[in-house]
Amino acid sequence: KTYHIAVIPGDGIGPEVINEGVKVLKKVAELDGRFEFKFAYFPWGCEYYSKHGKMMDDDGIEQLKNFDAIYLGAVGYPGVPDHISLWDLLLKIRKSFDQYVNLRPITCLSEDVCPLKHVKKEDIDMLIIRENSEGEYAGAGDWLFKDKKEEVVLQTGVFSRKGTERIIRYAFETARKAGKALTSVSKGNALNYSMVFWDQIFAEVGREYPDVETYSYLVDAASMFMVQQPKRFEIVVTSNLFGDILTDLGAALTGGLGLAAGANINPERKYPSMFEPVHGSAPDISGQGKANPLASIWSASQMLDFFGFEEHSKRLIKIIEKLLKETECLTPDMGGNALTGDVGDFFVNILESE
Ligand code: NAI
Ligand code: MG
Repeated sequence: KTYHIAVIPGDGIGPEVINEGVKVLKKVAELDGRFEFKFAYFPWGCEYYSKHGKMMDDDGIEQLKNFDAIYLGAVGYPGVPDHISLWDLLLKIRKSFDQYVNLRPITCLSEDVCPLKHVKKEDIDMLIIRENSEGEYAGAGDWLFKDKKEEVVLQTGVFSRKGTERIIRYAFETARKAGKALTSVSKGNALNYSMVFWDQIFAEVGREYPDVETYSYLVDAASMFMVQQPKRFEIVVTSNLFGDILTDLGAALTGGLGLAAGANINPERKYPSMFEPVHGSAPDISGQGKANPLASIWSASQMLDFFGFEEHSKRLIKIIEKLLKETECLTPDMGGNALTGDVGDFFVNILESE
């Protein structure tokens, strides 16, 4: 079988880290022999914007529609406003392809990269399932009374029954399959419409899954517990904004942005899903070969898992763990002096020798 992957390397370190992910994916397929990847490259992003006045082709979504997956580096560059690069490319893809599930694994693979000294690495092993299509990031709002003194802006959260139910149901299914507990993170005390609604739906859907152990935390308390007792969390389901923030907190506990991976999933598989590192284009280090590609390799492993190659996916995570332990292939963000390309080569060597 051939998997067709649309690659959008993007800006800054995007192309640098994506190269390594592609290197690893090719090697995995070659050694397996049952399948192959065909990569098609799209030059979209901020550099493209400065030449063409747009982040992607007008029919870009149409062009991507028939791929099996999208593999994206990062977009964003000084000179192009961040809300344009985000809304006109990333969010456009996520929304057009109904990628309403954002999967962010928060797994600590080495105590050396964890700033918490009171926990064992086994204690940090959770999957955050973030609502990815609406909620606080629905883009609904208004700028009222432009007269300076009276200025008021509104930014409204939009929580639909369909949108809330499907993410919570997805989380229950995931928890059931994994045999793990599910925690909902919300804020029903202060957000007296949206989050009360969220909590109700969590309880409602939960009645269909009596076999799944559930917990419900307020987001402020959850932030504290994530640092003090991360062991409390296994599978976590939360809204768009809270998920955005909690996963960066999670990244800080497990090695930083250089290691944080994310998948934007359309569970119905009607449209392609998108796999990307969580970090941005890092203009401060781009072009120097210093970028850590582990996050993009980790998201490649999520892609393998999505295609049903669970062993390959797990194997890549094992190699990340080995790399962190052996330390000679650490990039500068993790205290080493390896180059981006050395990291991909490390994977290729291990894959070939196993
Ligand atoms: P950033 O993630 O690009 O960088 C933050 C810090 O982490 C920098 O010091 C950077 O050097 C470091 N860093 C990030 N990824 C790294 C890696 N793989 N290896 C080593 N060090 C790494 O976030 P920042 O600086 O806030 O944003 C820069 C640009 O990226 C902005 O234009 C922003 O809009 C965009 N951005 C894009 C995202 C995306 O495409 N998904 C996500 C976040 C930001
Ligand atoms: Mg974020």
